[in-house]
Amino acid sequence: MAAVELTVFQVILLFWSLRTAVSQVEMRCPSSCGNICIPYPFGMEEGSYLDERFKILCNSSSGVPKLTVDGTKLEVRDISVRRSTIGVMFPVVSANCGGKDRNTVVDLEGSPFVFSSENYFIARGCGNLALMNQNQSTIGVCVSICDKNRDSMMASCSGTDCCQTTIPSFLKVFNVTMKGLDDGKGSSGEKQCRYAYLVAQSWINYGSYYSDVGGDSDPYDMRHRDSVPVVLDWGIDERVFESLVKNGSFHNSSYSSTCQFLNPSINSTNQSSTVQCSCRPGFEGNPYRYGICEAGRAYDNYRRKIKAKMAGIGVGVGFGALFLLIGLWWLYKVFKRKRSEKLKKKYFKRNGGLLLQEQLSSGEVSVEKIKMFPSKELDKATDHYNVNRTLGQGGQGTVYKGMLADGKIVAVKKSKVIDEGNLRQFINEVVLLSQINHRNVVKLLGCCLETELPLLVYEFIPNGTLYQFLHDPNEEFPLTWEMRLRIAAEVAGALFYLHSAASLPIFHRDIKSTNILLDEKYRAKVADFGTSRSVSIDQTHVTTQVQGTFGYLDPEYFQSSQFTDKSDVYSFGVVLVELLTGQKAISFKRSEEQGRSLATYFIMAMESNCLFDILDPQVVKQGEREDVLMVASLARSCLRLNGKERPTMKEVTMVLERIKKSENLTVQQESEYDRKEVMGAPWDVTSASTISSFDIGAPSSLDEKPLLHTY
Ligand SMILES: *[C@@H]1O[C@H](CO)[C@@H](O)[C@H](O)[C@H]1NC(C)=O
Ligand SMILES: *[C@@H]1O[C@H](CO)[C@@H](O)[C@H](O)[C@H]1NC(C)=O
Ligand SMILES: *[C@@H]1O[C@H](CO)[C@@H](O)[C@H](O)[C@H]1NC(C)=O
Ligand SMILES: *[C@@H]1O[C@H](CO)[C@@H](O)[C@H](O)[C@H]1NC(C)=O
Ligand SMILES: *[C@@H]1O[C@H](CO)[C@@H](O)[C@H](O)[C@H]1NC(C)=O
Ligand SMILES: *[C@@H]1O[C@H](CO)[C@@H](O)[C@H](O)[C@H]1NC(C)=O
Ligand SMILES: *[C@@H]1O[C@H](CO)[C@@H](O)[C@H](O)[C@H]1NC(C)=O
Repeated sequence: MAAVELTVFQVILLFWSLRTAVSQVEMRCPSSCGNICIPYPFGMEEGSYLDERFKILCNSSSGVPKLTVDGTKLEVRDISVRRSTIGVMFPVVSANCGGKDRNTVVDLEGSPFVFSSENYFIARGCGNLALMNQNQSTIGVCVSICDKNRDSMMASCSGTDCCQTTIPSFLKVFNVTMKGLDDGKGSSGEKQCRYAYLVAQSWINYGSYYSDVGGDSDPYDMRHRDSVPVVLDWGIDERVFESLVKNGSFHNSSYSSTCQFLNPSINSTNQSSTVQCSCRPGFEGNPYRYGICEAGRAYDNYRRKIKAKMAGIGVGVGFGALFLLIGLWWLYKVFKRKRSEKLKKKYFKRNGGLLLQEQLSSGEVSVEKIKMFPSKELDKATDHYNVNRTLGQGGQGTVYKGMLADGKIVAVKKSKVIDEGNLRQFINEVVLLSQINHRNVVKLLGCCLETELPLLVYEFIPNGTLYQFLHDPNEEFPLTWEMRLRIAAEVAGALFYLHSAASLPIFHRDIKSTNILLDEKYRAKVADFGTSRSVSIDQTHVTTQVQGTFGYLDPEYFQSSQFTDKSDVYSFGVVLVELLTGQKAISFKRSEEQGRSLATYFIMAMESNCLFDILDPQVVKQGEREDVLMVASLARSCLRLNGKERPTMKEVTMVLERIKKSENLTVQQESEYDRKEVMGAPWDVTSASTISSFDIGAPSSLDEKPLLHTY
């Protein structure tokens, strides 16, 4: 923008200098004939003069310009724009001087010229009475008396043989009549040689100026002359002038020139007056061109001032533009920030921020536990959600690894779009999860609702998922039986906690090995509560959409769409089997008869009494046979088709804890354990009738086969 302004300024300057250059050329002389300059309004070619009456004929071979006035061609000697005069050679009237008498009448009426008062009217001869006539009346007289003693050469003109007088101003007509005066001696004055003429006063006073036409010799000697220099004043017709001013091609009385009306001949109403223009003091040039004078001292000062002003304006404009730009930039910034804030607010509202605030302010939830992260911080932490920072991508969104300003490593989950209906649930989840403080549940540190998609910030768990650990086994660090048992117990404990210990029961809904993370000490951390629901919020447990992962999905829930705590138990059972067998929940390596689903595969293996064929070699090698069998039968009970027959997470947890403890004991002291005693306790606690040791919580078993039939 500033650049454009400056360019405009430069163009203006360029025009200025161009115009100056042109006018300087014009001032020197636009055209000339011979060595005589022909300035405007005079001209030689069509278009170069103001009108026909200013036309100058130029004989290019002789270099003599001629002006035609009243049909008479007058040789032009010089043209002065400054004084609005033109010097011409004007005919001399003569009588009785040998040869033909000459008399020329020139009427300047209708022309832009008048005889200048700078001319003398001179009568020469012995006893000469010369009369100037205008419109039948005499307007001037000059009389010379006869002096016989006088030499023909004379230095002055003072009455004898010569009469010299000034002429009336605005003389338009040159019509001279001469009469011979009787000298009183009766001599024939009529026969004397007489001259009468108009002549420029400078011809008499500065003869050397006219050396080319004999001005340096006797200025009164007309014997060898038929014309003498005469000065004509000229101007522009008032009417022409007015039309020029009107159509804008002439600036009347501008700063540099001034024009005045000349020749207001009061008596003659018909006669149009003329206008003469001149430059104001300090200016030079041709005021008849546009009425503008240039150059000259004052003009130079003026131009310098204008230039400085323009430069000032330019600099001003430049700075102005700069400030304007800065201002605009600032406005843009403010606008952008405002808009981004507005957007943040909008997102915050849409993402349930208000709901959250409501809950927070209601006092149900302790405020300190939910941190609201600014979107900027998370953006920075995840390096603008760099693809390289992706930890995982799931049904509920993408998880990025990030580092907060305080150096804490976090996992940032960018949720998928949530619709209005899920909003309350989402917020409840955030509130609930932020309150869960269990060492085997991934901690939700906070959230950010200012972004288009809500962001959840979790603690970062470094060792990947259980799935990776099981199925991409680490050679150096194999998953031992002990670790498997511990992980199973930890996950069960976490689920038990979620189902009961937390202030409101929470179902995870998507228990699977990929949702179990392992920390630096290979402790299990249950993650991804994206689909989990608090029971109080979703009392019916009926969802329109079955959520979960195939292979882990409770078949009962799949049929009824009714999610219960036992659905989580089923999924946990699959994880348990995964831990035992080291096989994937769904595998196409297994034949259809074997069971693509791990649960089916496992149940079939147990039923056909070949459990140990499908167990992970590590498990077979390291695990006590009885413990392994107990875990297997626990898994089997978790996988019962009827949810009611499955144990609760509490029961599962207690069984696993006991097995874990007995494992430790087995290692230390190889004593026998009453399995019933070890296993019995949880069942006693739940006070369920025990048909078989693992047949828990169900009043009547729908499974015909006893749970531990493999024993
Ligand atoms: C131009 O001047 C030359 C020499 O003075 C003369 O011979 C010629 O006739 C003139 N031409 C015109 C058109 O006046
Ligand atoms: C010339 O004289 C006549 C009468 O003598 C008069 O009517 C006329 O207006 C005069 N013209 C001028 C231009 O003075
Ligand atoms: C010149 O003046 C005389 C005397 O007034 C007059 O008779 C004559 O007509 C005038 N000539 C012209 C051409 O006007
Ligand atoms: C030109 O300027 C003069 C002096 O300011 C004024 O008297 C005259 O009326 C002007 N003429 C026109 C045609 O504007
Ligand atoms: C103004 O008028 C004059 C004649 O009166 C004409 O020659 C000239 O071209 C005109 N200029 C404009 C710009 O109309
Ligand atoms: C104008 O006319 C009056 C009489 O009408 C006369 O007295 C006066 O001299 C005339 N002036 C000029 C300059 O002709
Ligand atoms: C007055 O001027 C007009 C043209 O402007 C001209 O035709 C007429 O002859 C003039 N009258 C006199 C008395 O000069």
